[in-house]
Amino acid sequence: VVDSQITLQNIFVDPKTKLKLEISDTIEGKGKKTLRSPDGVEYEIIDGVANLLEPQEVHEKDQIARNFYEGRARQYEDNLHLTFLTHGIDENSTRNEFIDKLGLKKSSKVLEIACGTGRDSVLISKRLDKSGELHMQDISFDMIRLCKHKFADCSIPHSHSISDVHRLPYPDDYFDAVYSFGALGEFSDQVRALKEIVRVSKKGAKVVIGDESVPVWLRSTDYYRILKETNPMFEAPLPLMCIPVCARNTSIHFVIGESFYIIEFTVGEGEPEANFNFKIPGPRGGTYNTRYFGKLEGITMETKAKLHELIRLKGVSMHEWLETVISDAIGKENLNGYSNEQQQIKDRSQGE
Ligand SMILES: C[S@@+](CC[C@H](N)C(=O)[O-])C[C@H]1O[C@@H](n2cnc3c(N)ncnc32)[C@H](O)[C@@H]1O
Repeated sequence: VVDSQITLQNIFVDPKTKLKLEISDTIEGKGKKTLRSPDGVEYEIIDGVANLLEPQEVHEKDQIARNFYEGRARQYEDNLHLTFLTHGIDENSTRNEFIDKLGLKKSSKVLEIACGTGRDSVLISKRLDKSGELHMQDISFDMIRLCKHKFADCSIPHSHSISDVHRLPYPDDYFDAVYSFGALGEFSDQVRALKEIVRVSKKGAKVVIGDESVPVWLRSTDYYRILKETNPMFEAPLPLMCIPVCARNTSIHFVIGESFYIIEFTVGEGEPEANFNFKIPGPRGGTYNTRYFGKLEGITMETKAKLHELIRLKGVSMHEWLETVISDAIGKENLNGYSNEQQQIKDRSQGE
């Protein structure tokens, strides 16, 4: 077990430079291991948990979240089932339904963001075998320490890190699946957090993220008012703006009595592709691209009406006529001699 954990410490990169960290003996020696960056920065490993947090870089809001959970792990662990009890559903089967959405194989490499005390982590680990990997991170040492205890007898290759989702200590294009439940609303910059998640995901990886947010159509009910009295996080807006441009097959479900959302998507590349170059039939003609990129200044309504009549008589599209007439006109111009003509055009327009 210890071996597999040590092996997986090899995954870490410096959260700032993203340079690979090497495991080495601490300067004091005595068999204590440390993670060292090529530029000499040392990160400690505390009880098998890599501490890759750079406290000076943590945003105030994330620090508040961190402080909130430090010393609260036991209490969290003992009370969290109440969230599911409130809605008369079984916690493990509900969490398993969310994990199903990751489409895991036994050999998948999985990252769990803000794993907390590991209530999902244990369920995820049961989906993998020794060819898979489960990496868990959280900003709170108290929370992740409790999670780590649950992995004492786990033979699935795994690692734990204390780190900030906004500066993940994992390499680019590594994971087949990234999962997070119950934490997005606490992050200081959700757009940046999602960018980091996409960075560490392979193309085609599955991302599943859930958190509190009661939908707008329930916000005038006592149901909503009671829930937000127990936890203001239910007021959080649905975080549509943080979904990255590269998200594909995106879907959003409301779950747990419509009080949480689950956003799932596959990591694609860049913007969705489309054919904006086919010829559009009809009097305007052109393509979606020419209509978008080829816009010119306006003309008077009278000229426009005459032009419409002209192209109707000629049997060409507006695009074809404009393209020909403007190209011809430009062809007749001596572009190099433009500076001489500039004055004439100015003189003419001043005379108007
Ligand atoms: C409500 S708990 C959810 C824990 C767990 N995922 C679960 O479902 O029980 C929120 C977790 O988010 C973690 N967290 C908050 N801000 C974070 C950040 N910036 N980076 C990583 N973890 C963070 C907290 O430490 C806490 O463990």
